[in-house]
Amino acid sequence: MNSAREAGGPSGSTPATGGAGTDGKRTMGSTDFGFQQVPEEEKAGRVAGVFDSVAGRYDLMNDLMSMGLHRLWKAFTIQTSGVRPGDRVLDVAGGTADLALAFSRRVGPSGQVWLTDINGAMLARGRDRLVDHGMLMPVAQCDAERLPFASNSFDCVAVAFGLRNMTHKDRALAEMRRVLKPGGRLLVLEFSRIWAPLAPAYDFYSFKLLPWLGKKVADDADSYRYLAESIRMHPDQESLKALMEQVGLARVEYFNLSAGVVALHKGYKL
Ligand SMILES: C[S@@+](CC[C@H](N)C(=O)[O-])C[C@H]1O[C@@H](n2cnc3c(N)ncnc32)[C@H](O)[C@@H]1O
Repeated sequence: MNSAREAGGPSGSTPATGGAGTDGKRTMGSTDFGFQQVPEEEKAGRVAGVFDSVAGRYDLMNDLMSMGLHRLWKAFTIQTSGVRPGDRVLDVAGGTADLALAFSRRVGPSGQVWLTDINGAMLARGRDRLVDHGMLMPVAQCDAERLPFASNSFDCVAVAFGLRNMTHKDRALAEMRRVLKPGGRLLVLEFSRIWAPLAPAYDFYSFKLLPWLGKKVADDADSYRYLAESIRMHPDQESLKALMEQVGLARVEYFNLSAGVVALHKGYKL
């Protein structure tokens, strides 16, 4: 298996968008899928394969892998969102609807939350959970790089652990900005670069324990190996901040959570 360092691990290079990169390792028309380089047009299909495979055990694995911490990271995201009753919120790559459910409690009956994702299997789990919670909300299967919403539609757009999987992160962020109302904010919750002294232990966890856990619980080591690799290939805190600024978001700031395992980025459309 590749080591994190070979692939630009915790302190390594941080490609920011799909397509020809700035790290000298990618070629025109190729992008990263974990540590592999694949033609751009193949990435979405491969990502779909991962989430088709993990959808059934997704929530259980989330709790096990993060030891429940993902709930705190998401709660912090909701708290930081400033979402109020009556607001319109878009959950992009919303999967099994953790954020959408929490936002819908915030906006109340006078507001509206949309749950969206590119993957039918993940959305089906999300819809089941909405029903289990007695919640009704609009759901759309769509690509974050081509959002089927009018410009200036939402007070808040949020994407949790989804951006990493997108082929053209810049296009997706630009789309999320487009659908925000002026004054609206984008929240990006995503794995990021851990505090350097903890990197060796985190690498051991990611590349040894995670695939083992994936094999035991979901009979799928490969998808969890992809998870670990895709985290290493995702832009670090400062690179993502710069990318958000490049697509026109303003007052971009980020919060490191759990020593930078995860970061919440927030930016405004002014
Ligand atoms: C790790 S899951 C996160 C789900 C949920 N947001 C959460 O925090 O639990 C990543 C999700 O991103 C979705 N995704 C990947 N590429 C996407 C794209 N281009 N557009 C929309 N969703 C995408 C996947 O289908 C998957 O449901």
